[in-house]
Amino acid sequence: MDQKQLQQEVNKRRTFAIISHPDAGKTTITEQMLYFGGVIRSAGTVKAKKSGQFATSDWMEIEKKRGISVTSSVMQFHYHDKDINILDTPGHEDFSEDTYRTLMAVDAAVMVIDSAKGIEPQTKKLFKVVKKRGIPIFTFMNKLDRDGRDPLDLIAELEELLNIEGCAMNWPIGMGKELKGLYDIRNSRLELYRKDGDDRFLPLNDEGKLAEPNPIEGEGVYEQALGEVDLIKEAGNEFDLEKIKAGNQTPVFFGSALTNFGVETFLDTFLDMAPAPAAHKEQDSEEIVKPDDPEFSGFVFKIQANMNPNHRDRIAFVRICSGEFVRGMDVTLNRTGKVMRLNNATEFMSDQRETVKTAVAGDIVGLYDTGNFQIGDTIYSGKKAVQFEDLPQFTPEMFMEVQAKNVMKQKSFHKGMQQLVQEGAVQLYKKYTTNDYILGAVGQLQFEVFQFRMKNEYNCDVVMKPIGSRIARWIDPEQLDQSMSSTRNMLVKDLDDQPLFLFENKFAENWFVNKYPDIKLTSKL
Ligand code: G4P
Repeated sequence: MDQKQLQQEVNKRRTFAIISHPDAGKTTITEQMLYFGGVIRSAGTVKAKKSGQFATSDWMEIEKKRGISVTSSVMQFHYHDKDINILDTPGHEDFSEDTYRTLMAVDAAVMVIDSAKGIEPQTKKLFKVVKKRGIPIFTFMNKLDRDGRDPLDLIAELEELLNIEGCAMNWPIGMGKELKGLYDIRNSRLELYRKDGDDRFLPLNDEGKLAEPNPIEGEGVYEQALGEVDLIKEAGNEFDLEKIKAGNQTPVFFGSALTNFGVETFLDTFLDMAPAPAAHKEQDSEEIVKPDDPEFSGFVFKIQANMNPNHRDRIAFVRICSGEFVRGMDVTLNRTGKVMRLNNATEFMSDQRETVKTAVAGDIVGLYDTGNFQIGDTIYSGKKAVQFEDLPQFTPEMFMEVQAKNVMKQKSFHKGMQQLVQEGAVQLYKKYTTNDYILGAVGQLQFEVFQFRMKNEYNCDVVMKPIGSRIARWIDPEQLDQSMSSTRNMLVKDLDDQPLFLFENKFAENWFVNKYPDIKLTSKL
């Protein structure tokens, strides 16, 4: 591919994640998008997968049991002139570091909110991670076919709870049984509810009203919507693309994913405004790698084992940051300096995994991994070494003591532990003096997955004893005195032998800070 072709290809890419609280409608809207992209022929396919009907590996057993999707997957499809990568982030209550890291690999995020419930806790948590990255966030207020909260309230809540400006792109005309349509401010048209085909769109006149004959003339909700639109045009946040790009303003769309109302307009407008793949900064340097740099580069943001039980394989998910990926190419793994040939790669077309032919910056490829990769690794094809910035480590909030059930299984215990920690499935600590193992995670689910995989992949039953939720704070080894430790602030060390305290709660931390005012504690985040 020559430079011009590469540029054109890269500009077509849109890579994003959908974040939401469970049940807000993420699966339903994803499904509608896949449907528009021609990937699935009817709604229901993804749903079936979610309920476990299409579970393809024993890895999925946990998903089945808990009725949730444990792993973030990738869906790629072509829509209009764009090539889209949707990275799935499970919205269930149990967070895993996987979810967070996935958000490091996208260029934009879609936030789905249930318009009856407003902003819920998991949305808030995921939002914070996205906000830190400074990428654009697009909001879809879902379930308009049901009675929901006042749209003006919903917009105000964005500012109050998330500290982001909301800018309405369209406005509901009624809700629930009274839902008549959407006033599409941006496209200066009206979209009628429950009408198929292009005649559901009606143009607005210069006064911003429907011309005659107007099928919803005289409806109270129409008049009310006109009034509200006037109000937000006058007093609402002004549309500002620069603010949107920086993640300081979110365009807000209303609609109903289930009845496929407003989703197409949302997708079209979103794809228009969402950025093409961004440049990536290098570690400890001012250098940036541009997506249309001819040399290939990318980073591993997730490693997943056992996607296919017949192969017992691991897949390293790589976000391509520059150039073109070609099967069979040689790349250097920066961390080790090792050159490897990438013969085996996979692309993620909805359900099926297909072998990749070519992929460019913005795309995600899955590389079959025999233990070479770690989370955060950079690979590159050129002569000049590339190292992207480290992925953030998320400070664990929950801890478990762990040991092998059977002492004779020490070998497989250590092997499994080492590999799963390397994969980034959990974080590992040791008690400072006894070297007993302690696992740290951001969500309970990570422990369950760890236990399940230790048994299934390494044939080792583990016993875990909860320490509970703790606040992890690192301390300068020079300042450490072991007598500072107690049951309320357990002293442990991380993989680099750096000491840290696990405080029982904020109160215990404050007590410590008061007692030892000269000691500096850091959260590492
Ligand atoms: P999630 O992935 O964010 O967890 O949500 P999901 O799409 O699975 O949707 C959660 C529930 O909300 C589903 O109902 C779904 O049908 C419903 N839903 C999604 N979008 C809309 C919408 O626009 N309007 C209405 N009224 N409902 C919507 P469920 O009863 O849990 O599942 P199902 O039994 O209907 O499949």
